[in-house]
Amino acid sequence: MSYIKLDYNYTMSEFLENGLTDEELEASNDAAKKGLSDFITLSEESEVGFSNLPEFDLSQIKKTVKASKGQYNDLIIVGIGGSSLGVEAVTNALLPHGYNALSFGERGCLPRVWFADNVDPHKLYWILKKCEAEDTLVCVITKSGSTVETISNFSIIYKWLNENLKDPFSHIYVITDPEKGPLREFAEMHNIKTFSIPSNVGGRFSVLSPVGIVPAALLGLDIDRMMEGAEEIVKSEKEKILHLSAIYLSFIKRGLNINVMMPYTSRLKSFCEWFSQLWSESLGKRYTKDGSEIHAGTTPVGAVGANDQHSQLQLYKEGPSDKLITFVELGSHDFDAEIQAGFHPEFSYLTGHSLGQLMNYELHATELSLRKAGKPSLKLVMDGVDECSVGKLFMLMQYVVAVTGLSMDINPFDQPGVEEGKHFAYGMLGREGFEEKKKEFDDQYIK
Ligand code: PA5
Repeated sequence: MSYIKLDYNYTMSEFLENGLTDEELEASNDAAKKGLSDFITLSEESEVGFSNLPEFDLSQIKKTVKASKGQYNDLIIVGIGGSSLGVEAVTNALLPHGYNALSFGERGCLPRVWFADNVDPHKLYWILKKCEAEDTLVCVITKSGSTVETISNFSIIYKWLNENLKDPFSHIYVITDPEKGPLREFAEMHNIKTFSIPSNVGGRFSVLSPVGIVPAALLGLDIDRMMEGAEEIVKSEKEKILHLSAIYLSFIKRGLNINVMMPYTSRLKSFCEWFSQLWSESLGKRYTKDGSEIHAGTTPVGAVGANDQHSQLQLYKEGPSDKLITFVELGSHDFDAEIQAGFHPEFSYLTGHSLGQLMNYELHATELSLRKAGKPSLKLVMDGVDECSVGKLFMLMQYVVAVTGLSMDINPFDQPGVEEGKHFAYGMLGREGFEEKKKEFDDQYIK
């Protein structure tokens, strides 16, 4: 079984000047315990469902995916936010680098994958230009079934399917709420293959539901292993969840306003984007649960080592002391290669080392240099990147963010702050019921 270890030495006063004291961490640990107990109550009452997902029955997904194997050259994922970022993180971590450039045979007769995740006409144009409708499966993912970006992209893709196929509906999978939403109605009307996102699983906590699992299965990934990894976190890692949450809480209390997630592998670059959404949408809140004004939250930043040693590290080391950095280290790197430095004597010091070794040396060097500058960092150490470890990492961070939010007395599962912007946009688009918002916009927007 794969592992994720937590190393937080460089956050503590024993190793870091002005690091956390045991008492400080203990106080945050008590707060985190309360957050965890609130979380357990919410999940026992089925208010929140992401931690129950490892018990989800995967047989329908496997059956459908097995029947479709070899039929499609392309898979287009249509979704946004929590209905896309998790899938992108899964594919970035687990598919070979440059996957879409492999031939059908090299891909094991599995489809290439494209993300229609933004209403960017350039992007959608080129996705459709590269795909042939008869060889394409479109997976449209939206919990609400009505998100304007997703529906707009899908409308264009649907027209394209319609124009090119006798039966466009057999080329669509819909992943949405189990009961409600216009997209569910549309799917039922046309007998489209549909998968349900449990009602108590919110967008940014849904990567281990059909949202992430159906695309993962379509791309040949081992979904059982992903869920096994996630299950292990639920069953046996409460201490780690508490610890990590307590460290985050301690630095939030100290006023460190920036939370940097910095894996030392390109395979977790999209994971940083997924984590940024999870952190900011869950913890950035104006009010506590009892209605007091708090303006909670810290700003997430994604960085990738070693690349960002050559861009952001200068700021992390010598800039303001407003950041906590979470590194992710891999115990082993797939396809590790020995550096071939014999072509010039100046590089002979590299001989005998590998790329993976260099990556980890760079991480350790960065940790120490930050520590010397009094900048706190902690580290998640994973044995490698595979389905099991990725399932673990998602579940661990979902738990940590939920527990951290509940410990802060805010609701980590809502996102009231994104509504008003949507309503102004609906007004501009002429949607019925949003006339007042259009008027307010026209009166107040400074052109
Ligand atoms: O976390 C969330 O709830 C949001 O980011 C949603 O995932 C996002 O707005 C997309 O919503 P939907 O799945 O309803 O299209």
